[in-house]
Amino acid sequence: MKLAGGTQYPIRRDDLERPRFFERRDLLIYMIGTIASSIASVLGITIVRYTIGPAFSSSGVSGWTNAGLLEDIPEHKPLKRSLVVSQEAGWGRVNLQKLVWIIRSGNDFTVFSAVCPHLGCTINEAAEGFICPCHGSAWDAQGKKIGGPAPRNLDVLEHRRNGDILEVRYQSFKQGVAGQEVVN
Ligand code: FES
Repeated sequence: MKLAGGTQYPIRRDDLERPRFFERRDLLIYMIGTIASSIASVLGITIVRYTIGPAFSSSGVSGWTNAGLLEDIPEHKPLKRSLVVSQEAGWGRVNLQKLVWIIRSGNDFTVFSAVCPHLGCTINEAAEGFICPCHGSAWDAQGKKIGGPAPRNLDVLEHRRNGDILEVRYQSFKQGVAGQEVVN
């Protein structure tokens, strides 16, 4: 090829056919696209987190829940009760079923969560108190840990008498930690 100054400039055929990636304009478009998609991802996660997310999360604390008539709770024999617990969950309240163990001694009551503080299996009654069927943690009748991998005693729930009704304030607690820490 002959250029303006009379210089012969040889252009090879494969120079003309070779795709020219990442010219300056292509690089700019690529960078703008990358930045825009990053911003969209962050915004998307934030929107989901603050709009849809709360609907699927619930507070671990309920109000006072009816746990039955006092006269129906036998003495010195752990009673397993299923409570319908109303808890905050994002945009409203949800009703959840929760198991508790109630122990009566005269007019004194103790209420334990039936959730194992190890990994959350349901605790059963045993000859000396309570046992978890999953990994064999055991507690005595007062809820004191006597064996197994559970990191603490049984979780005690607040209760009160309201006339002839026992009411329980259900709470969920962190699993796998030594202290009874409420999940919020
Ligand atoms: S879940 Fe209860 S001992 Fe592991």
